[in-house]
Amino acid sequence: MSLPPLAVTGSTGALGGMVARDLAERGVAQRLLVRSPDRAPALDGAAVVACSYGDGRAARAALDGVETLLMVSASESAERLREHRTFLDAAAAAGVRHVVYTSFAGAAADSTFTLGRDHWATEQHILDQGLTHTFLRDNFYLDFLPTVMIGEGGVIRGPAGDGRVAAVARADVARSAVAVLLDPPSHADTTYTMTGPEALTLAEAATVIRDVTGRDVTFHDETVEEAYASRRRWEAPDWQYDAWVSTYTAIKLGEVAEVSDDVRRLTGRAPLSLRDLLVPDHA
Ligand SMILES: NC(=O)c1ccc[n+]([C@@H]2O[C@H](COP(=O)([O-])OP(=O)(O)OC[C@H]3O[C@@H](n4cnc5c(N)ncnc54)[C@H](OP(=O)(O)O)[C@@H]3O)[C@@H](O)[C@H]2O)c1
Repeated sequence: MSLPPLAVTGSTGALGGMVARDLAERGVAQRLLVRSPDRAPALDGAAVVACSYGDGRAARAALDGVETLLMVSASESAERLREHRTFLDAAAAAGVRHVVYTSFAGAAADSTFTLGRDHWATEQHILDQGLTHTFLRDNFYLDFLPTVMIGEGGVIRGPAGDGRVAAVARADVARSAVAVLLDPPSHADTTYTMTGPEALTLAEAATVIRDVTGRDVTFHDETVEEAYASRRRWEAPDWQYDAWVSTYTAIKLGEVAEVSDDVRRLTGRAPLSLRDLLVPDHA
């Protein structure tokens, strides 16, 4: 039996999982490429195939017969870019036509957010392979503002100053990805910027979280030196500290402040704001 020509990666995670469930609910057949098949979501019309980005041979076999591929960027690691390139080489060798890749807002060779550079290099590799592309350039996830970005004592800490961030809900990225996957030719060789409906300073974000949840959340504008020092209590490689700190310096420098209409254009509905996310009924 032949496998579906639409492949989705990352379905054991948050974003890819939302995409895969949405496609299944719409009756779309898909091939789920996962590292751990036992953790793949059980979905109607989905065939599960084992594959990790860094294993070119397995990826080449898993991608055989795939026409359109949603490639969710891999978890951050020192090896990520190498793994992405291995996977994309396998995609090109397998004859994949169109890659939909979750990139980063303002990805560039010199992005202040250090991981934005890997996304840019991945985009370049897709272009170099001659693959048809759709880049979904995601801003920082809005979902993280009221959760992982709040540290000890209810403080959002980092050297972001009065800079603004047009963070986007993962649900909006997922809905946008589904819109592209339902009609890939209409989105060929196009880059979309995935943002929320507004760009907030972190002080404004703290105020919204306080207003809606009643939680005592504040923003503390660290210096870059303070930011490294406050994160060094977690054991991590240097690239990880750079990524953590540059999240905030990218905000400070205005590199993630652009508000785009692309989520609305793709999904037909306004992207979620921070308030919407905190009060789902409000959305
Ligand atoms: N814009 C932002 O603010 C932001 C923040 C964090 C992350 N991201 C990026 O966005 C991606 C999706 O976000 P998410 O919240 O859905 O992340 P997530 O819940 O951690 O899911 C990541 C998915 O990618 C899979 N994966 C990771 N590395 C892989 C590899 N080397 N080969 C094959 N599959 C791999 C994971 O598989 P397993 O289940 O096997 O691990 C998982 O299914 C992340 O992976 C990261 O690149 C963006």
